[in-house]
Amino acid sequence: MQSVSNFRIVPAATRLDHVRYAIRDMAVLAEQLEQEGKTILPLNIGDPINFDFCTPPHLIEAVERAMRDGKNGYAPSLGIPEAVDAIRAEAERKGIRNIQGVFLTAGVSEGMDICLSALVNPGDNVLTPCPDYPMYSAVLAKLGAQPNSYMLDESNEWQPDLEDIRRKITPNTCGIVVGNPNNPTGAVYSRETLEQIIELARQHSLVVFSDEIYDKLILDDEPYTSLAALAPDVSVVTFNGLSKAYLVPGWRVGWGVVSGRATSLEPYLEGIYQLLRARLSSNHPQQFAVRPALEGPQDHLTGVLSKLRARRDITVEACRTTPHMSCVTPHGAFYAFPKLDIPDSDEHFANRLLMEKHVLTVHGTGFGQAPGTKHIRIVFLPDEATLRRAYQSVHAFMTEHYA
Ligand SMILES: Cc1ncc(COP(=O)(O)O)c(C=O)c1O
Repeated sequence: MQSVSNFRIVPAATRLDHVRYAIRDMAVLAEQLEQEGKTILPLNIGDPINFDFCTPPHLIEAVERAMRDGKNGYAPSLGIPEAVDAIRAEAERKGIRNIQGVFLTAGVSEGMDICLSALVNPGDNVLTPCPDYPMYSAVLAKLGAQPNSYMLDESNEWQPDLEDIRRKITPNTCGIVVGNPNNPTGAVYSRETLEQIIELARQHSLVVFSDEIYDKLILDDEPYTSLAALAPDVSVVTFNGLSKAYLVPGWRVGWGVVSGRATSLEPYLEGIYQLLRARLSSNHPQQFAVRPALEGPQDHLTGVLSKLRARRDITVEACRTTPHMSCVTPHGAFYAFPKLDIPDSDEHFANRLLMEKHVLTVHGTGFGQAPGTKHIRIVFLPDEATLRRAYQSVHAFMTEHYA
């Protein structure tokens, strides 16, 4: 006899209350408008493949060859040796010494999840930037860690506020996440800033999680420094991957490089390896693109960077000539985080802009921001004509609503 089922609403875990998902929320609204036949100008998603950027063919060939050669089973949990060696060699070229471990993951996203999970105990906290890339705080929320964010200072080119970091360190702080170049601000941190973060990490025995996924997308001539290269004695996990600079976000190929003192890192590294083994492996055939990516031709980057520079310049100019809007110039990645000087909330602004002008951005509250400030995040990946049309609409919207 069939038992009578008890109807019960299945609640999501309360620890997810801190997870923000503004980027996807806005996208859902845009999809509804598209279904009504509206054309949306998308300034919201950081996926270059949605725009006029193409995966370098030699990477596709390498993965295709791997599949034909039968590399379709599970990979070693830490990754295939040729990819691990290429990542280690690249880290050494960047000046990272004392490398204690290298492993591949399904993007930086999985790498960050595993490395935070292997460190954080109940009651611990990890410093995350504000505004932040929401993945960091989502992982920490999942772990039940106490939120602890440090401010990025808009009045200082969005560099981290070091005094705020110092103030926020508690006896339960075990790590700090640094995103450089930064999403959503586009900031690239100075060597001095990095050295000061490292000094605080050294004094307080923090593990630094350095997300450097945009390190090859530097839009000006300033030299880029990998944080770990300045800190051979500090425990650092440097994250990177193929998603952005090698134009294959859907392949889910990323990695972590753990550096610092061998004796300090031994138990933590074993914890990371335990979790890597528990999830079997990351994508196998795609790992065969890593060596050709890091050691093969880099020509595609010239085209990518020249497009991004032109689009960044159009974006900054538009923000500066639009009433009630100002913008710190982004120096890396493909994001701008202009400030709005308006009476309404930025969420209201982004919603109305989408509904009335069909321009899709994400409101600053979706990333966290200094109390009382209002922003939107712009992704300047679309072509110049699309960007110009979008910015004309933003200008018109501002004039119509806030003249
Ligand atoms: C700062 C930052 N880190 C990580 C990621 C995700 O990287 P992956 O595709 O390697 O998981 C993104 C994607 O937008 C990002 O902006």
